[in-house]
Amino acid sequence: MRTQVAIIGGGPAGLLLSHLLHLQGIDSVVLESRDRGYVERRQRAGMLEQGTTDVLRESGAGERLDREGLVHHGLELRFGGAGHRIPLTDLTGRTVTVYAQTEIVKDLVAKRLADGGDVRFETEVIGLDASAPSVTFRDTAGEVHTLECDYIAGCDGFHGVSRPAVPGLRTFSREYPFAWLGILADVPPSTEELIYANHDRGFALHSLRSPQVSRLYLQVPPDEDIAAWPDARIWEELAARFATDDGWKLHEGPITDKSITPMRSFVAEPMRHDRLFLAGDAAHIVPPTGAKGLNLAVSDVIVLARALTERYASGSDTLLDAYSSTCLRRVWRAEHFSYWMTTLLHVDPAADGFALRLQRSHLDYVASSEAAKTMLAENYTGLPIG
Ligand code: FAD
Ligand code: DHB
Repeated sequence: MRTQVAIIGGGPAGLLLSHLLHLQGIDSVVLESRDRGYVERRQRAGMLEQGTTDVLRESGAGERLDREGLVHHGLELRFGGAGHRIPLTDLTGRTVTVYAQTEIVKDLVAKRLADGGDVRFETEVIGLDASAPSVTFRDTAGEVHTLECDYIAGCDGFHGVSRPAVPGLRTFSREYPFAWLGILADVPPSTEELIYANHDRGFALHSLRSPQVSRLYLQVPPDEDIAAWPDARIWEELAARFATDDGWKLHEGPITDKSITPMRSFVAEPMRHDRLFLAGDAAHIVPPTGAKGLNLAVSDVIVLARALTERYASGSDTLLDAYSSTCLRRVWRAEHFSYWMTTLLHVDPAADGFALRLQRSHLDYVASSEAAKTMLAENYTGLPIG
């Protein structure tokens, strides 16, 4: 069995890469260990940078995104009982769009299958050879096969098999003393724009999925048991953290999904070994506060698709050789921004009075300085790709 590019992982990175390569006449096979329903329903990110929506639209995968995506021009920082708007579009000329990762995955799976693409679910990669190159996988019936290829794209997330196959990898990481409890609720959002709230009781984020569905997050301790959070306690805590002096009201509704996500920063360097290229969460993780994880996965894949296109079209390795350094420049910017947003807005349980006063001063400055607001807006809406 042979293909040009073997893609390990059918998350947003692997599926988009396969789609972009197909548009350039390059064959790929996507090998995904989970079943289709699982990858299409796994609740994760929801805020897309303009560069992400542009690539989906320009590649013909943006039809439903254009219909259902909610374009946003600003966000709110809320602290000290008051809201402070950051006018993203006025400051940068760019917008962001709320459209869930689940919907992007559904759209890309449907597109690949409609275009005759080879996407194999319940197919687990168990080994790879980055120089032969080839990948070994177990099919749905449990039989082991080898897929030969020209290149391997490791798009298999943080717990995949690709990253451990890179010898001499250097890794850099930070753990945080908190996690996020995320919910989906069948209730119209209580806000038109996202609210990032800092409160003595901890961070909270009000996002949305549609005019009828709200997505909300709460800072909780890192080892928190979800059983400690019955629905009534979640609503009570959210209401306390979003409370304003002018009596803003949070609407409650039935919770349809509830989960706890650990928070970490992680980067692996380099993102390439021989003919294996790492992309997305396989190479780096950010804490979710800046909404960068999914967008970084997309920008890696844009850079990789361009480099492979150049290789097949002209035989030149120039862009492939630059892949890791091109991606890492943007990855480290997003790492810094995500770390910055996280420390700006969360309550560190070890913070003393000095640290808390510095944090409040920092929040006041960001909410009042044009320069600081522009810095936030420029990073949030996304810096140039490549
Ligand atoms: P993934 O989406 O992880 O896809 C990797 C795929 O590879 C998976 O489908 C996996 O099943 C498959 N795979 C793994 N091993 C193998 C193997 N051996 N063989 C075959 N297939 C394999 N980001 C935000 O911006 N905001 C958020 O609110 C947010 N929430 C998140 C919540 C959770 C619980 C997690 C884990 C992440 C969250 N993220 C969030 C991050 C964002 O979802 C990721 O950055 C994004 O999914 C990265 O896409 P990816 O394709 O690189 O990896
Ligand atoms: C969402 C998630 C984020 O991490 C974020 O910063 C903004 C929005 C979301 O899931 O909608």
